[in-house]
Amino acid sequence: MRALWLTDIHLNFVTAPDLEGFYDDLAAAAPDALLISGDIGEATSVRGFLRQLAERIGVPTYFVLGNHDFYFGSIALVRREVGELCHEIPRLNYLTAEGVVPLAADVGLIGHDGWADAREGDYLRSYVMMNDYRLIAELTGFTKADRRGVLEKLGDEAAAHVRRWLPAALADFPEVVLLTHVPPVRAACWYNGQISDDEWAPHFVCRAVGDAILEIMPKYPRRRLTVLCGHTHSRGECQPLPNVKILTGAAQYGHPAVERVLDFT
Ligand SMILES: [Fe+2]
Ligand SMILES: [Fe+2]
Repeated sequence: MRALWLTDIHLNFVTAPDLEGFYDDLAAAAPDALLISGDIGEATSVRGFLRQLAERIGVPTYFVLGNHDFYFGSIALVRREVGELCHEIPRLNYLTAEGVVPLAADVGLIGHDGWADAREGDYLRSYVMMNDYRLIAELTGFTKADRRGVLEKLGDEAAAHVRRWLPAALADFPEVVLLTHVPPVRAACWYNGQISDDEWAPHFVCRAVGDAILEIMPKYPRRRLTVLCGHTHSRGECQPLPNVKILTGAAQYGHPAVERVLDFT
């Protein structure tokens, strides 16, 4: 089974002819599935893009949402609307709302949006003002100090999902793929080809998910986990444990591309 991994395709920044060309290229590659690790569009456009991907490529599409997918809207509402769309189009699968998906005979898939949870780096001293904090309903109207609690809660929610479903996936499959938007450890948090510094790391790492992975995986030394993430738009690989590999995908606004072709058996 061959899957195309896409991340941070930000289709709202793509011209109409380029969007057509992108869909044509994906269809021509004739994959068995699409894996998308978030930042597909924005709150008002993400459902339309998901529908087009499902209809034009016509294969099972497993995805999580990224911070941009909630811009000009709210996390709760977009998650609900996207859930309804998946109900309408069964080949669309929002992993945040699902458990373990059998991807191939030996490979189980789980996923969650994740969220940069302000736990890495120096959040209070960081001057970075993400658009998230202006454009997503749940994150606006806070002082920096108060917003920290909301970010931590979003990270904890992602970690709870991983703590619930990763052991379940490992019980049934020798290999597990975890799709998430935000890098779960700082070593996977590439930005412009470098590991993020204390200024950026609070906004680029979901440490709650990283801690869950680092706690669970040593208990399964014969199982393997591959994490596919994005968010920082810079490509890199790291291996925080012998049985855990984290791939971070690259992206360029306006130029959506396949990050990797993945073959599973
Ligand atoms: Fe992105
Ligand atoms: Fe992002």
